[in-house]
Amino acid sequence: MTPLALAVFEASLKRCEARRDFLDVFYENFLASAPEVSEKFAHTDFARQKEALRASFHHLLLVARDPKQGPDPYLEEVAVRHGAGHLAIGAHLYDLWLDSLLDTVRACDPECLPGVEAAWEEVMMVGIHYLCANYEGRHRG
Ligand code: HEM
Repeated sequence: MTPLALAVFEASLKRCEARRDFLDVFYENFLASAPEVSEKFAHTDFARQKEALRASFHHLLLVARDPKQGPDPYLEEVAVRHGAGHLAIGAHLYDLWLDSLLDTVRACDPECLPGVEAAWEEVMMVGIHYLCANYEGRHRG
């Protein structure tokens, strides 16, 4: 990713986080996107979940900034949790996740120009690729 795209993402994340309901809007959108999604979150403590997602955004920013470092231990654990042996989050659900997130950014960032969405997509794809590649367990190769 270019330093410009990273800076665009970071600035938009700040504007979104300035809205207290940013992650409420996201989970409202995401849970409404398919029954399969709301079923997965049937027993979730959303206060904790929102803090975890907020932390993930910052970890993904660090990984996107310096991909040679590889994912950090936090994201490795998130990948295990989402994999076949645990939450079993299939690739099709990541499409809904990304669409819900981009809808949320459009609603929450007052300066959401097309470059802003593209920057979010690029950073989030770093995480989505990593979680999907590790679905079956430790990534080989
Ligand atoms: C890149 C995309 C995603 C990121 C960064 C992400 C991040 C996270 C994080 C940080 C947690 C908390 C882990 C913990 O500490 O317990 C979590 C839990 C969870 N995620 Fe994701 N997630 C992503 C995509 C998805 C998708 C597509 C689904 C599909 C339904 C999903 C469903 C869940 C569920 C069900 C939990 C557990 C909630 C609970 O504890 O009840 N995630 N996710």
